[in-house]
Amino acid sequence: MSETETNLLGLDGFAFVEFTGPDAAGMAEQLEAMGFTAVARHPTKSITRYRQGRVDFVLNEAATQQASEFGRAHGPSANGMAFRVTDAARAYELALEKGARPADANLSAFPDVPVLEGIGGSLLYLIDHDVFAGWTPLSGAGAEAENSVGFGMIDHLTHNVRRGEMRTWSEFYRRIFGFEEQKYFDIKGQATGLFSQAMIAPDQQIRIPLNESQDDKSQIEEFLRQYNGEGIQHIALTTDNIYETVERLRARGVKLQDTIDTYYDLVDKRVPGHGEDLERLRRNRILIDGGGEDGILLQIFTENTFGPIFFEIIQRKGNDGFGNGNFQALFESIELDQIRRGVIKVA
Ligand SMILES: [Fe+2]
Repeated sequence: MSETETNLLGLDGFAFVEFTGPDAAGMAEQLEAMGFTAVARHPTKSITRYRQGRVDFVLNEAATQQASEFGRAHGPSANGMAFRVTDAARAYELALEKGARPADANLSAFPDVPVLEGIGGSLLYLIDHDVFAGWTPLSGAGAEAENSVGFGMIDHLTHNVRRGEMRTWSEFYRRIFGFEEQKYFDIKGQATGLFSQAMIAPDQQIRIPLNESQDDKSQIEEFLRQYNGEGIQHIALTTDNIYETVERLRARGVKLQDTIDTYYDLVDKRVPGHGEDLERLRRNRILIDGGGEDGILLQIFTENTFGPIFFEIIQRKGNDGFGNGNFQALFESIELDQIRRGVIKVA
């Protein structure tokens, strides 16, 4: 996508997400179980490129200063993400003019890439070329296809922010990159709640929902405590066949969030005429939302994978939401877990 009046920085989708943490081998195993293949390695440093479909993940084994410091502060974490842009140098200048803070590229995995300070001190790279060009190939397209569970691309990438900071971050993405506010949710469980503001970039590809707690006990606050700061809560990956993807993930031992059985007794009433195989939906614990003119959205979440960070598996059938109805259901299911673990008490 070229630069336009609304897309001044020439944004063109997510390029990659970078992860780091003290147990890189464990993280690598989890990525492989989720269908990602190590396709290339940094020529001199312990940094690996994982790929599946059009999704790129970078696993940085504390091989650069920022990753190493980030891992010490946050444990297993997402220390960076990258936006594709038309002209990185120009986008960087514009971003700084609009108030973005520069980060030190020399301390990152990609010293020749302009980088901004992102959520929770993570890196926000601006990419206009193939940054993996000089990397050492590890395996070919055949191995990649064989290991795939069917993920296509990053659908959205959700941040958890501190109380009172949602507007700080919606403003950050609006002012600097021209994001617009898409959907706003006010989600209440039995004892806790959260606000969620979905932001969408002018390229219509980069979607970043922002979550903020309504109290000091919710799952968002628990994340902030465990992660020791704000950051990426979950990364949603698309599939063209969620049933097959989920069945492959289960066969590989990837743990997915459970849903109470009664949820499935209510699906036909909540989403009339959905046309899905209800028994396969129930068996796989896949969630469904939308209905009628809104189309259908199918989704399921993994258990916490990297520290408190988890993944979402999503298939859109004409629905451009985030599973509003399921958001409530998910919130309640996590809250029920919190109640069982004694983290929160219901009066
Ligand atoms: Fe999501």
